[in-house]
Amino acid sequence: MSDDEIDVELEARLEEQEEFEPPEAFVEQANVSDPAIYDDFEENWPDEWERAADLLDWEEEWDQVLDDSNEPFYEWFVDGKLNAAENCIDRHLDERGDEAAIEWVGELGETRTYTYRDLHREVNEFAAALREQGVEEDDVVSMYMPMIPELPIAMLACARIGAPHAVVFAGFSADALAERMNAANSEYLVTVDGYYRRGDPLQHLEKAREGLDKVEQDATTIVVDRLGDDSEIDPLPEERDYDELVEAHSGETVDPVTRDAEDMLFLMYTSGTTGKPKGVKHTTGGYLSYAAWTSHAVLDVKPEDTYWCSADIGWITGHSYIVYGPLALGTTTVMYEGTPDYPDKDRLWEIVEDYDVTQLYTAPTAIRAFMKWGTEYPEQHDLSSLRLLGTVGEPINPRAWKWYYKHIGNEECPVVDTWWQTETGGMMITTLPGISNMKPGSAGPPLPGISADVIDPSGDPVEAGRAGHLVINKPWPGMLRTLYKNDERFIDEYWDEYSIPERDQWVYFPEDGAKIDDDGYITVLGRVDDVLNVSGHRLGTMEIESAIVGVEGVAEAAVVGGDHEVKGEAVYAYVITEDGQEESDALRDEIIEAVEDAIGPIARPEQIIFTPELPKTRSGKIMRRLLEDIADGNELGNTSTLRNPDVVHDIQQKVHGD
Ligand code: PRX
Repeated sequence: MSDDEIDVELEARLEEQEEFEPPEAFVEQANVSDPAIYDDFEENWPDEWERAADLLDWEEEWDQVLDDSNEPFYEWFVDGKLNAAENCIDRHLDERGDEAAIEWVGELGETRTYTYRDLHREVNEFAAALREQGVEEDDVVSMYMPMIPELPIAMLACARIGAPHAVVFAGFSADALAERMNAANSEYLVTVDGYYRRGDPLQHLEKAREGLDKVEQDATTIVVDRLGDDSEIDPLPEERDYDELVEAHSGETVDPVTRDAEDMLFLMYTSGTTGKPKGVKHTTGGYLSYAAWTSHAVLDVKPEDTYWCSADIGWITGHSYIVYGPLALGTTTVMYEGTPDYPDKDRLWEIVEDYDVTQLYTAPTAIRAFMKWGTEYPEQHDLSSLRLLGTVGEPINPRAWKWYYKHIGNEECPVVDTWWQTETGGMMITTLPGISNMKPGSAGPPLPGISADVIDPSGDPVEAGRAGHLVINKPWPGMLRTLYKNDERFIDEYWDEYSIPERDQWVYFPEDGAKIDDDGYITVLGRVDDVLNVSGHRLGTMEIESAIVGVEGVAEAAVVGGDHEVKGEAVYAYVITEDGQEESDALRDEIIEAVEDAIGPIARPEQIIFTPELPKTRSGKIMRRLLEDIADGNELGNTSTLRNPDVVHDIQQKVHGD
């Protein structure tokens, strides 16, 4: 068949919503290929979850799989004891000591390989150094680092000594760092002098210091030297140098601290409806079991693989599927520091070819960019080592799915479209690549043992094909246990909003809209709260709005997400200025700067629209839906219920100039 004919055929299958069967060669070797697994979990719930826990080594076995006596504060693998670093490193030493644990590819083309033995050595040395710096069990250690090997090393060193880590995405601003360190009362920070972007050094330490100035408690700071001579910033006397510390503890080992299954492994801040980020608490036993299990069942990870997740470790995807899941299974995990289009747009494909990457897990926003750049880039490389493709972070449109399936996977790799969240710890809704048919655009059925529904506002399941709210009906091992030091907010945010008394159970609300097909496949439509998803990055509209209204001359602001061809969503900021304030480019620049200072460049508004008024209901609520429709250039429905319907036309004109 010619390329054109294949195109026509694929197009037809997509239009008919035809399903794609998993490739036979894949099924034959898949970690999970028996469909009975769904029934097994159903019939033997929750005990079947021992399958996940059994992927780990436990110092003491659990007494009970699930304790649900204090809903929704569920506990998993009760009284089990283990150490996460020991599971991710030590237990692989005998068989895989000389195999690569981490293959790191730097922005400048440098590479580093850490075997499991290398990783063991450096994690131990850094764990000893952290202890010497005063870190004790349960102290929260913050990290503000880009994609360099010292980041997973520091995370695992913390795990070894039972100190939870709290990683802050390096692209976040100084203020965002300070806010998170203050919220976690964290007295330790591991950061870096800088890193490279498109070949140029980026001085990160400046930003870290600016953040530290706003941290209320004293914080011991350890700085990794990434830039060498390219660093423009001299170290301060009180800052510790990572290399010197590791050197000073050369050859030392630290016994892995025995942790209870329910002890906190890490804290990760994520955006919610209000302006304050939520500190999501994940545990040692349940989270690690879940990350390992989903890596095994969905990503089909085997020890001999070279597996690559192109996310950033600063987000949950990197925690679960660059660090904990793959290393728990003893495989080789690839880490790439740079961007996909530097030095050229074939960078990712070059890495796939060079390392014989077997699985690639990336985001729809990246796939849409690859599509735009064209097929000539992947065509320059041999991608035949790939066995499985995955996506995460936002809905994938069938066109992008098809492109990925065909031009990257050569129609020989299953594509798993995995729905999950920071809070869920790991994947929840996706096809199992060795079992299920794939339907482009639809994530698939809930994983075995996961119970999901789509309901209407009164709590009844919606009819097939209709939109509603996604809910998860049963607990699962990887679930967040609470919001750090805020049990009340944990209940308010996730559990009690629409509790369904007649079901006599707690229901978890992920705040996503979805539809469910007759066959139980779920298509996730996007957030139903005031959270945006820009290039797969989760941002709170309130956080952006509060940065904007802090600018002198701004009276009010409303931020919404507008459709964007590559980013999925883009930030649209509607701004009302104070009387007498000129609507100038200078003010626009100040607004952008304020957003970048409060959050980071990822939250930068695509468009700032000055408007004399915001469309409001008679009760004074801003009509965000309408502002989204205006941004997207959609037909507007009935606006007569607005208190100020005339404003709509003015705003439309400002956005589209027509
Ligand atoms: O809206 C959903 C979207 O990303 C949100 C979670 O964002 P975050 O906590 O940052 O975690 C991202 C990585 C797991 C969800 O509420 N989302 C994630 N995966 C998908 C998705 N939307 C549709 N399809 C997906 N596969």
